[in-house]
Amino acid sequence: MSLEFHLTHYERYRKEGIEAHRGGDASRARFCLLKSAEHLFSVAKASDGRLKEERTRRAHELVELANRVSTAQAPSRSDGKRRESDDPESGAVDGGRFLIGERPDVTFDDIAGLQDVKDEVRLKIIEPFQHPEKAELYGIRPGGGILLYGPPGTGKTLLARAVAGETDCAFFTVKPSEILSKWVGEAEQNMAALFEAARERSPSVIFIDEIEALAPRRTENRSSVMARLVPQILAELEGFAGKQGAILFLGATNEPWSLDPAILRPGRFDERIYVGLPDLAARHRVLEINLENRPLADDVDLARIAGLLEGFSGADIKNLCRKGADDAFRRAIASSGDAPIDQELLLQNLKEMAPSVRPEDLERFVRYRGEGTA
Ligand SMILES: Nc1ncnc2c1ncn2[C@@H]1O[C@H](COP(=O)(O)OP(=O)(O)O)[C@@H](O)[C@H]1O
Ligand SMILES: [Mg+2]
Repeated sequence: MSLEFHLTHYERYRKEGIEAHRGGDASRARFCLLKSAEHLFSVAKASDGRLKEERTRRAHELVELANRVSTAQAPSRSDGKRRESDDPESGAVDGGRFLIGERPDVTFDDIAGLQDVKDEVRLKIIEPFQHPEKAELYGIRPGGGILLYGPPGTGKTLLARAVAGETDCAFFTVKPSEILSKWVGEAEQNMAALFEAARERSPSVIFIDEIEALAPRRTENRSSVMARLVPQILAELEGFAGKQGAILFLGATNEPWSLDPAILRPGRFDERIYVGLPDLAARHRVLEINLENRPLADDVDLARIAGLLEGFSGADIKNLCRKGADDAFRRAIASSGDAPIDQELLLQNLKEMAPSVRPEDLERFVRYRGEGTA
């Protein structure tokens, strides 16, 4: 087949795929997007150098998009209507739609440890508004950028939600996968609208989770959307320094080394805070948080269990508690009586678990921090 043929079909299927997605026909959208990718792969095969690289990457993007389209639309709304934000090429760019309507009922008390992170957030966005004269006196400007980085399951996402629960700020959040999949062709406008809406409602917080997907090292990933978005985000971040009103820009990542170094330069993410595995006290607290509302036997010794959980993440510990509750629940049903979670049950479950963060992953964080790049 000729290059012309594949190029034409790639274009046609791509358009049709996006239209189908708009119309809410996920399976058609998926089919067309995959077809489109297939043709683009053929085109890439016949190309050379930069062009080949670029086309291959775009084809991969289409495959990713196809996958996301089908999962994103799977739970179709019962009223048959589509939401504006489901539309990948929605003309209406309203940054307000990233606003979280309902305040999460998570607060800092629900988070074990991480005192330095909590203090930093208080200093940057809560206290300057509670004590405006003092903030003025000391030249403290509210807002700025905080990057939370560390191994998975350590509470970064939870913490961001707690920021929304703790402050009166308007809280905006957006997932990179949404930016990359739903905003086909409109990523820049949406990003600008997001920052604009945050400015209008200042003081506000913008949270981007898994930010490495949005701002990967430019040399490694030159894919079209991201290559254009990264400089834009940088410009928006720089805008914070002006008189734009207070915005706290919160990013979280499990892979800081995948971030574009430009986004780490001074003036962007001023504070980079390592969110590590919980220490003994924090592990104890995570156990408490997850067990306090469940029936516990008198013999449960949380301090001892916390001591055995060295190397486990908060998410692991939550998991341990959930498993214990599952087992006790089963027992209670079988015995048609009470069966509180007891020490033995927890120890038994613990024996079958391993920390989800591997030592080599931790070492990578140690090295990363040591290199002064964080
Ligand atoms: N420090 C912590 N305090 C309380 N719960 C935690 C903590 N860290 C993790 N968890 C539990 O693990 C779950 C997953 O954590 P999450 O915030 O998604 O981790 P991350 O974003 O760092 O990967 C949380 O919802 C919470 O239940
Ligand atoms: Mg997370």
